Amino acid sequence: MAWRLWGKKVVVVGGGAIGEGKIETMLRTGAHLEVIDPTPSTRVVELAEAGTLVLKRRRVRRRDLRQATLVVAATGNHETNAWITRWGHRWGAIVNAVDDPDLCDVTVPAVLERGAATVAITTNGATPAGARFLREELTSAIPAEVGTLLDHAATARDHLRNSGDYRYDYAAWRQRFFEPGMDAIRSGRPTEIDAIRSQFEAEFAADSSETRPGKVTLVGAGPGGADLITIRGARALAAADVVLYDRLADPDLLALAPAAAIKLPVGKGKGHGPRQEEISDLLVRHALDGSHVVRLKGGDPFVFGRGNEEIEAATRRGIDVEVVPGLSSAIAAATLSRIPLTDRRHAASFTVLSGHRAGDGDYDWNTLARDDTTLVVLMAASTAREVAERLIAAGRRAETPVAAVHRAGFGDEQIEVLSLAEVSLVGCPLPSPCVMIIGTVAGLAKSSPTAPHLANLVESAEVVLIS
Ligand SMILES: C[S@@+](CC[C@H](N)C(=O)[O-])C[C@H]1O[C@@H](n2cnc3c(N)ncnc32)[C@H](O)[C@@H]1O
Repeated sequence: MAWRLWGKKVVVVGGGAIGEGKIETMLRTGAHLEVIDPTPSTRVVELAEAGTLVLKRRRVRRRDLRQATLVVAATGNHETNAWITRWGHRWGAIVNAVDDPDLCDVTVPAVLERGAATVAITTNGATPAGARFLREELTSAIPAEVGTLLDHAATARDHLRNSGDYRYDYAAWRQRFFEPGMDAIRSGRPTEIDAIRSQFEAEFAADSSETRPGKVTLVGAGPGGADLITIRGARALAAADVVLYDRLADPDLLALAPAAAIKLPVGKGKGHGPRQEEISDLLVRHALDGSHVVRLKGGDPFVFGRGNEEIEAATRRGIDVEVVPGLSSAIAAATLSRIPLTDRRHAASFTVLSGHRAGDGDYDWNTLARDDTTLVVLMAASTAREVAERLIAAGRRAETPVAAVHRAGFGDEQIEVLSLAEVSLVGCPLPSPCVMIIGTVAGLAKSSPTAPHLANLVESAEVVLIS
């Protein structure tokens, strides 16, 4: 509840250290403020001398509370606060007792002001320090220039109302005013907000009321671990109306989208989940409704993902598309496992392959068998054995180390290092999602305490060949 106290009588009993903060807050409301304290602080005396409040330098009396809309008991003494509360109630006032939640009808939130907006943080008296801490965090998270942006928004609204062009079209406000405005603030050009507002007003007024298409942002979620997304990706999520997310994108990332955003899982597993055309249709349909659709894809959207097909579907319908790169598991799985893909003493290049396409004759195995290239195999879980066999047949050393990395970045990742010969026998030692890194550098992987040991795999094998 935002309570207009302008011109109303507010009495603060206690003009010392405890009351000061509340007095400052009340002054911003435009209330008629009376402070009662026999020994007020210097700051309160100064405010009284400046005529901003009425100071009574004595103990509180019952009739001081008469006709008050709000009484603030800030004496630091529970009994005195209780007496003030009782008499405040007797005269029909609402009471706030500082740091005395049981006596409070209302608590006063910690506030952060940004232009036309007031952000209020309340813990309902449970931890005033907690509310203050949150406010400090938000103060740095919401730049002061956001206030200017909001003031300009209020001006634009007034102008549009006066000219009869106003309508509540949130998508338009966000896409054409707030997003460019925030971009200007973040890139250190807040003075551009004025021009952004003028252009917005002109375009908004010229527009018919028909729904404008929204937009699609393809965001690479990174390999797993919500903090491995890019800052740009996180910002896109924060501005999403609809989020379509992959099975491999870390579910914790959804918390970055507004609570009101629609969040739809569209993960494709083997033989389940929606077909690619259905995902593209969903994306297009929501964007044509005027929504900002964020398509959150695991890793990088273009690395063995069908991001480009989704872009084509959207652009065919005239929808704006932006792509935000992500940290691909092809690189992250290695780096997180301390495998230097191109350590110059071991490898001159690295090649990323798809395990699914390994059987399709898509690869030149003779080239891949060269000892000085590291191979990174995605979707390796089911075809690892075949990949290893082909490489050995093409001349890659049977003792070449292979690191299998499962759920890289998620915090519960597992790493297992075998030889190429062992993989050709037992296949991938870890389940999907798994990246296999083949090459001398794989031998440098840090070991994972949770990985199943090769001995367990051998135990369950039907045939074991030892060389
Ligand atoms: C369809 S591909 C998508 C790759 C994704 N676009 C990327 O750049 O990471 C899915 C495969 O990526 C790999 N993968 C994705 N995330 C992974 C992770 N956190 N740990 C291990 N492998 C992962 C697995 O090989 C999985 O089968």
